[in-house]
Amino acid sequence: MNTQTQTLKTTEKDGVLMIILNRPEALNALNQLLLSDLRQILEDIHLNPEIKGIILTGAGEKAFAAGADIKEFTGLDEHNARELAENGQKIFSLIENCPKPVIAAVNGFALGGGCELAMACHLRVAAPNAKFGQPEVNLGIIPGYGGTQRLTQLVGKGRALELMMTGDMVDAETALQIGLVNHLVGSHEELLPRCHKLLDKINSKAPLAITGVIESVNAFYGQGDGYKTEADCFGKCAATEDFMEGTNAFIEKRPPSFSGK
Ligand code: CAA
Repeated sequence: MNTQTQTLKTTEKDGVLMIILNRPEALNALNQLLLSDLRQILEDIHLNPEIKGIILTGAGEKAFAAGADIKEFTGLDEHNARELAENGQKIFSLIENCPKPVIAAVNGFALGGGCELAMACHLRVAAPNAKFGQPEVNLGIIPGYGGTQRLTQLVGKGRALELMMTGDMVDAETALQIGLVNHLVGSHEELLPRCHKLLDKINSKAPLAITGVIESVNAFYGQGDGYKTEADCFGKCAATEDFMEGTNAFIEKRPPSFSGK
């Protein structure tokens, strides 16, 4: 699944799909074309059994994504601004609800919609030059692609309010301390290898159990009854071949070999 559109590049190797936001001249700002290309790829991924995991990153060394494309904001009124936010929210929730693990490799600025995009991914790994922030108040707006919700979930109400009300950026070290990212690597060169290593580990587990974890954790955040979802997913996992394999492997003192069935 190696593709290239005007705004995105994808490369696939051993079931891992790398999605590269590819507008480096605009610091990978998320224009409407990029969002619609992204939606298309995400819809394909949901249906494609060959794809086992996704890494999302930005082209170049300067930015993951510097936010929604501010140049497309001229002429927005209340009605179409609400539509713009709803559309972005829908696309980002395709990432959050992706049944396969999605990791953001944050290789520079992740601001506004860029920070929101990283937060929609299941895990975040930061390069040393990564910078995070929700600077929308500088433009007279608020985060619109789920940032008010996901930032609060990740770092807590006090820190989220401060970041969104001041518009301040935080560096990668601070992002790690406050739980905005899972890992910080020592150099840019280590960023993608670390993401691959993390995906390899996750993908060595039973895939349907990973999907169940994603679904159940998302249910905690308002997409259903969390305990019920957890019990349902637990039940579904117990009916899989992988559950038999995992328990037999434990008893037989050997590593399991999961099939995703
Ligand atoms: N939209 C459109 N273009 C952008 C952009 C954005 N969000 N961010 C950067 N660019 C463009 C710049 O206009 C510039 O292009 P030109 O050379 O054609 O002028 C190019 O990218 C390089 O940017 P800078 O020259 O500004 O680079 P810098 O190193 O001096 O500054 C920066 C980097 C601090 C990230 C700065 O570009 C910046 O502040 N960008 C805007 C960040 C922002 O406000 N993001 C929030 C957007 S609103 C949003 O996302 C709403 C939402 O929740 C949905």
